[in-house]
Amino acid sequence: MARPREQWGTKLGVVLAVAGSAVGLGNFLRFPVQAAQNGGGAFMIPYLVALLFIGIPMIWVEWTAGRYGGGFGHSSAPGIFQSLWKRNPMMKYIGVLGILGPLIIYMYYVYIESWTLAYSYYAITGSLAEAGKAGELTSFLSGLQGLEHNSYFSGLGAAFTFFVITFVVNIGITYFGIRGGIEKVCYIALPALLIFGVLLAIRVISLDWGEFNGLGFLWNPDFSTLKSPRVWLAAAGQVFFTLSLGMGVILTYSSYLRETDDVPLSGLTAASTNTFAEIILGGSIIIPAAFLFFGSAGVIEIAQSGAFNLGFVTMPGIFGQIPMGNILSFLWFFMLFLAGVTSSISLAQPLVGFLQDEFGMTRQKAVIAFGLLTFILCQPSVWFLSHGVLDDLDFWGANFFIVFGATIEIILVAWVFGVDKLWAEMHIGSKIRIPSIFKFVIRFITPTFLIGILGFWFVDEWWTFILMKDVPEANIPYVLGTRLGILLMFCILCIMVWVAWQRRKRQTKSEV
Ligand code: ALA
Repeated sequence: MARPREQWGTKLGVVLAVAGSAVGLGNFLRFPVQAAQNGGGAFMIPYLVALLFIGIPMIWVEWTAGRYGGGFGHSSAPGIFQSLWKRNPMMKYIGVLGILGPLIIYMYYVYIESWTLAYSYYAITGSLAEAGKAGELTSFLSGLQGLEHNSYFSGLGAAFTFFVITFVVNIGITYFGIRGGIEKVCYIALPALLIFGVLLAIRVISLDWGEFNGLGFLWNPDFSTLKSPRVWLAAAGQVFFTLSLGMGVILTYSSYLRETDDVPLSGLTAASTNTFAEIILGGSIIIPAAFLFFGSAGVIEIAQSGAFNLGFVTMPGIFGQIPMGNILSFLWFFMLFLAGVTSSISLAQPLVGFLQDEFGMTRQKAVIAFGLLTFILCQPSVWFLSHGVLDDLDFWGANFFIVFGATIEIILVAWVFGVDKLWAEMHIGSKIRIPSIFKFVIRFITPTFLIGILGFWFVDEWWTFILMKDVPEANIPYVLGTRLGILLMFCILCIMVWVAWQRRKRQTKSEV
């Protein structure tokens, strides 16, 4: 007999877990870099448009599709996609993207998360403050990352130690399951990190700004940039990344909902919490403070050195100049750590759920298998960071597969499954009614928007990217290796899906 599937314990628990998955390093580290690189106020219009026309509708679509697929005993995209279009046997293979995407992100996300734990520690010991006083925060970060040997770090020993601790914390939480691990941790971690965020935002806003209008940078819209496809791409990519959409993560989390659990209001609450954390907290802590202390050219330069670097290099410098700086610095990095953990545990769940539901593994066995596999898969990010491996993983995991997967998903749900059926399904157990204009949005606007983004992408960047024209020659073997590795992972996952479905067929026959 099939093992009973896991479920969330409480309604609040599921909202906190989904919001925990969404609120992550993307909100506090990636968003400010995107905003800085795309002109601040210029970025906010495409960002808010993308949030309204693709973010919010996709949240509802994913929650509904996940809950629906969960009803057939599936907790990962292959099974969920297959249950949405039963007669097309290819759907389960396309659903592999919903396991591969989060796996790729996991391969570097946990490592970046471990830097936040390391920085929390160095904030307490005072090493960070020392580096800040010496104006050497960039060297400090490069030293930790193993990009240079300096007086702070002589190798990757410290980074590797913090990575192992972070990895064990992640696997430990996942081991205790949906209710006993993920939900319990999010109950504490999400409110804690929001409180830390509000305290930090108040402290930063109350700094002495002089003539400088820091918040104005983000909130002075510049309509001329609406013409630039690159800014639209960046905004849509950020909305997806931050809401954990298109990765298969929300599909998996919502598959653990009960049949009559609310979708519209819970989805909206989780998305609003994330948006609050991103533009109110993320936007008002780091962006104005970084501009005040480093000036516009300085900030852009730091932003360009790495998609997640700005928060590591600027904030300790700023806190170093105000009273109780070490404590504030600790609060900042520990908040990032909590935000990171509640997101990375959600990235693990699609594969863990796949092993449980499609191969009948116990949670414990599935988590151990996942842990052994991903410990190996994370190593290239740790050891080959300087060779562009992490950036390439970020491109495939957090940009390409997200948008590509979401495009397939919205067409599948809105056009094959059918928007009317979706609408009815979405409102089962619902506490609010979604305005019916969103039916039109889900059917026409969201798919057009996504196809447009993909189209621009292909025209603008695809060949440069595929042919590695931007990659320095010395890094080509590493980047190529990363891509072949991703292809291999895709093939292995497809074979696993095939085996799982054969197994299901045999089981159904023997039950008849
Ligand atoms: N949504 C997660 C983040 O923002 C992945 O970091």
